[in-house]
Amino acid sequence: MADQVHIDHAPWFTEARFGMFVHWGLYSLAARHEWVMFREEIPVDTYRRYFEHFDPDLYDPKEWAAAAKNAGMKYVVLTTKHHDGFCLWDSALTDYKATNTPYGKDLLTPYVEALREAGLKVGFYHSVIDWHHPDFAIDGNHADRNNPDADAINEGRDGARYRDYLHGQVRELLSNYGQIDYLFFDFSYPNEGGTASAGTRFPGKGRADWGSEELMAMIRELQPGIVVNDRLDIPGDFVTPEQYQPAGAMVSGDKLVPWEACQTLNGSWGYDRDNLDYKAPDLLVRMLIDGVSKGGNLLLNVGPTARGEIDARAKDSLADMGEWMRVHARSIYGAEASAYTPPSDVRYTRRGNRLYAHLFAWPFQFLHLPGLAGKVRYAQLLNDASEVAMMVLAEGQEAGHMTPAGQEAGTLTLKLPVQRPTVMVPVVELFLNDESELA
Ligand code: GLC
Repeated sequence: MADQVHIDHAPWFTEARFGMFVHWGLYSLAARHEWVMFREEIPVDTYRRYFEHFDPDLYDPKEWAAAAKNAGMKYVVLTTKHHDGFCLWDSALTDYKATNTPYGKDLLTPYVEALREAGLKVGFYHSVIDWHHPDFAIDGNHADRNNPDADAINEGRDGARYRDYLHGQVRELLSNYGQIDYLFFDFSYPNEGGTASAGTRFPGKGRADWGSEELMAMIRELQPGIVVNDRLDIPGDFVTPEQYQPAGAMVSGDKLVPWEACQTLNGSWGYDRDNLDYKAPDLLVRMLIDGVSKGGNLLLNVGPTARGEIDARAKDSLADMGEWMRVHARSIYGAEASAYTPPSDVRYTRRGNRLYAHLFAWPFQFLHLPGLAGKVRYAQLLNDASEVAMMVLAEGQEAGHMTPAGQEAGTLTLKLPVQRPTVMVPVVELFLNDESELA
């Protein structure tokens, strides 16, 4: 059997396979990417106009939870604070928070309540980078990187004070909202702090700056069941490929590690009004399947509008995925990589003694599955539970005018209908004789 990895203290994570990322904050008003403050080098005082106009009157996290659930997602991860430093909760450690905006209310309590009510796991994203905090040293990843006085300003900045702030805020997040299942920190750059346009090179930031070991110890104490990602510059519970699909299982040293790809709908994490680069729904479905076939999760992002709604385009994408998940979820939840090598354009996932062949391309009639002859008891299309005929084409058999040639010994051949089922990715469910045969 292919080696599988799980998180011992949180088996739900690899079982869930599919979650929703939510990037939401002041940048949602700018509506042109969550890095807008950095990209346009907007000073803190100017950026404040978004703070002064933050009033998400349509915010209803029950709607978010419903959208996630209908898409087949099992957990949701919301930006408690992004790089711009704005806090969605009523932190005692800053004034730069939702409760001081025109909206005037804490956004996290209704969020965690809505998720729990919907049976979804509760996740927080938290940026360790902070372009607003007066003690966060300016570097090449900072909105103020080209300030000619950066060096002088940094002289007066106290990294230890920022570290205390970071730890204090994480303590609030993990103490005041009940059980939190998931934490995504973002991000470290220990070796390279980037450059300003004038050529100034900045030192990076990593574990020493964040006090990562102590932070992690505190997290484990406050929330023993939580899963934490790997962006504190120390190992976490899982690794986080971003905006790419790994070519196979992910390893750290020579050990397989749990992983979760985070992906956008259109290349931007925050709401990006004029961006039309949406991934087609069938591509999204294939990304989910591809990840699970390699032992990974998919955390798919939405960037709600400044009024608090998931916009229509994102909603449509989620609904399309949900329609596929409605009939195919059992090839995803709790499924893992298979030790068998699939033919091209097919991805296998396995759960117990069932093997799922996901057909990215629909062949004409015959699909040859190496190594599976004699191992499969029954085969059916998953979308309608209709039987799929199986045969073994004797090795050495010559091709005739109307009969296909034999296949390599051990190959199982499926005979598929000519008509491709009208689902985004058809799946053949193969009932294996015996789980032990997966070895
Ligand atoms: C990045 C970006 C960011 C986004 C995140 C999601 O590192 O800085 O804007 O929040 O990845 O993984």
